[in-house]
Amino acid sequence: MEYYSIVLSAGKGTRMYSEKPKVIHELIDTPMISLVLEELTCAGVTKNNVVVGYKKEEVLNTIIKKFPDVSHVEQKEQLGTGHAVLQLKEKMKNKKGITIITCGDTPLVTSDIFKQLIENHIEQKNNITVLSTKVENPFGYGRIIRDQMNNVMKIVEEKDAQAEEKKINEINSGIYCVDNQLLFENIDKISNDNSQKEYYITDLISIFLSQNLKVGACITFDNESLIGINDLYTLEKATQIFKERINDKHLKNGVKIVDKNNTYIGKDVEIGMGTVIYPNNHLTGKIKIGKNNLLKSGNVIENVIIGDDNQIGPMAYLREETHIHSQNRVGCFVELKKTNFGEGSKVAHLTYLGDTEIGTNSNIGCGVISANYDGQKKAKTIIGNNVFLGSNVNLIAPVVINNNSFIAAGTTVDKNVEEDSFVIGRVRQTSKNKK
Ligand code: UD1
Ligand code: MG
Repeated sequence: MEYYSIVLSAGKGTRMYSEKPKVIHELIDTPMISLVLEELTCAGVTKNNVVVGYKKEEVLNTIIKKFPDVSHVEQKEQLGTGHAVLQLKEKMKNKKGITIITCGDTPLVTSDIFKQLIENHIEQKNNITVLSTKVENPFGYGRIIRDQMNNVMKIVEEKDAQAEEKKINEINSGIYCVDNQLLFENIDKISNDNSQKEYYITDLISIFLSQNLKVGACITFDNESLIGINDLYTLEKATQIFKERINDKHLKNGVKIVDKNNTYIGKDVEIGMGTVIYPNNHLTGKIKIGKNNLLKSGNVIENVIIGDDNQIGPMAYLREETHIHSQNRVGCFVELKKTNFGEGSKVAHLTYLGDTEIGTNSNIGCGVISANYDGQKKAKTIIGNNVFLGSNVNLIAPVVINNNSFIAAGTTVDKNVEEDSFVIGRVRQTSKNKK
């Protein structure tokens, strides 16, 4: 059986008050549409289709790198969720299989929920299954209307609902599992005869029933995962839930997060047992951290590899392609970019190193700067093993400092340094009587 998805993502998200299309707003570091595509793939969907509209290039650029096989279609005018699905008719109508329809703005739905929906759809031999849930406050959602036998009859939108219907607290999640060919045989039967003059995908329920096709609802009690993001307020709420899910996973794996409410870890971060993380660490992008590290407060760490037994921070900024090996110390106000930091080396305070290689057991003094940019291009600094750089050393790249050298404080190094050298380059101090 082939599984397809249709991810509705054409809307602007007016209530976000943002120039950026809604579905590319991030939860910590991952755009919500990427989360949706990842969970669908994990649930066994092999062909994902995205309906784009508002700023479609930005949406597609966001997903193309990670999901190169996703196909897309443009919905030029946003005339409703039914009209959005209709745009895929020519592309998909002849395909045999099951299609999941979901929205790019419900980022917390897990692959388990998608799987549960598919299983229920198959077990019940339904032609269409809507994923529903019960909530305390159903305002704004479509309501699931059932008959006396408890069979699903239709879905009624908030704006079209009668007073009695508004009291119903079983709501439509906006996620459906449907036989693909039946979907496209019926998609243009949807009309816009409703209070919003929109083509509602929800009308498929009554359309299927009028042909004696089998309709069902799969209820999930995990309503937290079904949050639809409509504004920055709900985005923040969803981000908190997402953050907690990630932090709880690390805590259960032996990472000691001291304050999980104030620790921000993206979903592609691996952390080894015994590592301790103090508050206000921000770890985003693809990161691999080994065992028994101590991350003191306030570090910002992006796309790096960190080995075992290191002490980082407080307040270090570790940027892309940096590799800290083992038993290193990277201290306060240190920024490292594209820097390979050998085992046992130390950089304890106030330093910038970019495009730099450092060997083992070297000491980088306070205030050392690698001048890696001449205004046009970047150049490399290479530092060997057992090198001692005194305070306020400037390294004008490209430059190589070989093993066992000692550079005196305040020196500006712009020529390569031989092994075992002592180098000093600073204005000689003179003292005069000031009277
Ligand atoms: C929809 C459902 C409602 C359900 C709710 C769950 C309909 C008619 N209503 O309402 O029953 O309870 O989701 O969150 O389907 N979109 C397009 N093109 C359009 C319109 C929308 O791509 O023309 C996309 C939006 O970008 C969004 C998704 O579809 O990602 C849902 O649209 P939205 O306007 O948020 O629908 P709701 O009013 O929330
Ligand atoms: Mg919505």
